Amino acid sequence: MSVATYPAEGAQLGMVDSFGRVVDTLRLSMTDRCNLRCTYCMSQDMEFMPRRDLLSLEELDRLCAVFVARGVRHLRLTGGEPLVRRGIMAFVNGLTRHLQCGDLKELTLTTNGVRLREFAKGLAAVGIRRINVSLDSLDRQVFARIARGDRLYQVLDGISAAQAAGLKVKINTVALKRDNADELPTLIRWAHAGGMDITLIETMPLGLVDEDRTDQFLSLAAVRRRLAQSWTLTDLPDRSSGPARYVRVAETGGRLGFITPLSHNFCDSCRRLRVTCTGTLYMCLGQDSSVDLREPLRHSPNDAALHRAIDHALVLKPKAHSFATPVRGAAPALSRHMSMTGG
Ligand code: 5AD
Ligand code: SF4
Repeated sequence: MSVATYPAEGAQLGMVDSFGRVVDTLRLSMTDRCNLRCTYCMSQDMEFMPRRDLLSLEELDRLCAVFVARGVRHLRLTGGEPLVRRGIMAFVNGLTRHLQCGDLKELTLTTNGVRLREFAKGLAAVGIRRINVSLDSLDRQVFARIARGDRLYQVLDGISAAQAAGLKVKINTVALKRDNADELPTLIRWAHAGGMDITLIETMPLGLVDEDRTDQFLSLAAVRRRLAQSWTLTDLPDRSSGPARYVRVAETGGRLGFITPLSHNFCDSCRRLRVTCTGTLYMCLGQDSSVDLREPLRHSPNDAALHRAIDHALVLKPKAHSFATPVRGAAPALSRHMSMTGG
């Protein structure tokens, strides 16, 4: 009996969904664990996946190779917090072979920065050029309240270490009505003064958390109007491969991004897939449809079953997410947390 190979000779390997969108970006969650407990992301006593359900680093590496063969050009490692996964440096180092041969254009990482000082030099040394660091406040007490951990200085030190190592740092800030609404201009000025882009993110109703997220939801359309009262914001055309829309702030000279899943839908130009640390492929951050890749990964000797699962996922990739502006007391739109699928 011959084992079917995939793809058939001469077949197209690229990934296109049923709406004609070319998929070339993958977010891969290395772990759902985290050394912080941000209030909008997790509950205080979050239950994590049993370790046996996690894909091994070898399985994750094989998965990445298949996706790169299928046309992924931008690969972002996320979490939870990717830098708490044991063996992460060796894993990243292994992935850089796809950069060296030119198949992968970019390998990036989203981190909360807590362990960044430890890893900055190593990441730069293996060929990482850019990282995203999540930071919601520059005030020690406010940071500690949001992240449920007094780690601001560690994060700031990690950012300095990353910049000193030559990594380009982008800051991600979740806009929170109660906790940091008034601080946003300060955060933006600080990031730009340090040569960093900053992107503001609206809270998304993902997973149960301890507080009512409606209390913290802040529309970025309103934030932008407020910023425009004192600053000159000019729209920039570049959309890169992410969902952010960028403006130039004349007064600071820096770039400011807005990720507005709720007040402005960005699905038309979506080129992303997401894989969790347990090998579940989500076609959209804001939809529940998923395809399991762990089974074909673990129980199939070659990659044929994996390719078929990916083909199936592309057919299922929805046109748009179904988030609505949050309603007080309502259950989250999706039961899974951001720490499962990464940002
Ligand atoms: N809504 C919006 N952003 C979130 N993040 C985590 N959970 C949520 C949520 N429910 C952010 C993190 C990080 C990025 C990866 O996603 O703060 O910046
Ligand atoms: Fe951890 Fe990021 Fe979630 Fe905060 S938002 S708890 S840093 S995964």
